Amino acid sequence: MTTIAIYSNKGGVGKTAAAVNLAFLAAEGGERTLLCDLDAQGSSTFYFRVQPGIKRKARGLVKGARKVLESVKETDYPLLDLLPADFSHRKLDLEFADQKNPKTRLSKALDPLKPAYDFLLLDCPPTINLLAENIFMAADLLITPLIPTTLSLMAHQQLLDFLDAQGYRSERVYAFFSMVDGRKRLHRELIAEARARNWRLLRATIPYLSYVEQMGVHRAPVAAFAASSPAAAAYNELWQETRRLAASTV
Ligand SMILES: Nc1ncnc2c1ncn2[C@@H]1O[C@H](COP(=O)(O)OP(=O)(O)OP(=O)(O)O)[C@@H](O)[C@H]1O
Ligand SMILES: [Mg+2]
Repeated sequence: MTTIAIYSNKGGVGKTAAAVNLAFLAAEGGERTLLCDLDAQGSSTFYFRVQPGIKRKARGLVKGARKVLESVKETDYPLLDLLPADFSHRKLDLEFADQKNPKTRLSKALDPLKPAYDFLLLDCPPTINLLAENIFMAADLLITPLIPTTLSLMAHQQLLDFLDAQGYRSERVYAFFSMVDGRKRLHRELIAEARARNWRLLRATIPYLSYVEQMGVHRAPVAAFAASSPAAAAYNELWQETRRLAASTV
């Protein structure tokens, strides 16, 4: 069982789009997959047409094993389950802070789910607080979308510095470029600049494509409604690369 966090300290960079598509492709490839929506916004829950836990259904992330198992929902797709977002997730960091061993609460909370799955994917909110530290502890691999802007590259360097300073293993962090417009010279230059750095960058990149935006209309992963689109192909490359990495590092 491998836990992969789709994590970034920046908002709106394509974490949820990647998490939803990677989870779908993992399951389609025969892996028993659970996508955990850790973001109170509930975007991946929405994409899979599952009701978010308005009445604190996913409290098991704080309260314990039986509740977390009860919270898991099937999706419309074989082998793919979802731990829906819960409004209480907005203050998971505060809840964890009040408990013993506050940095390993998430890992512990996910333990009862692990035997049933080959992959746990975490769709993370954009934070760098105690919840983020729980994510670093729980994940075998962190996959970070980078958008080709100066600020996004700065934020990634900050993240790597923070991980090193706190003693987390930043070599488990791999980044990929997301929302890339290959016609823009600035995008090409920033990607080249990032590739020249000592970062672990995946080869797969996700272009800026309206198929990805249309996920909100179809409420489905790209490959479910546009299997032969360039967007589905790009996410498939990202999944194949991630899967190989998971096999070699975990
Ligand atoms: N490759 C892409 N091409 C076009 N639009 C995209 C792409 N990736 C994401 N988007 C759009 O950008 C917006 C933000 O994407 P997404 O929700 O995946 O980001 P996020 O990092 O999860 O955001 P948050 O930090 O709020 O959780 C969404 O409206 C999504 O449809
Ligand atoms: Mg998101």
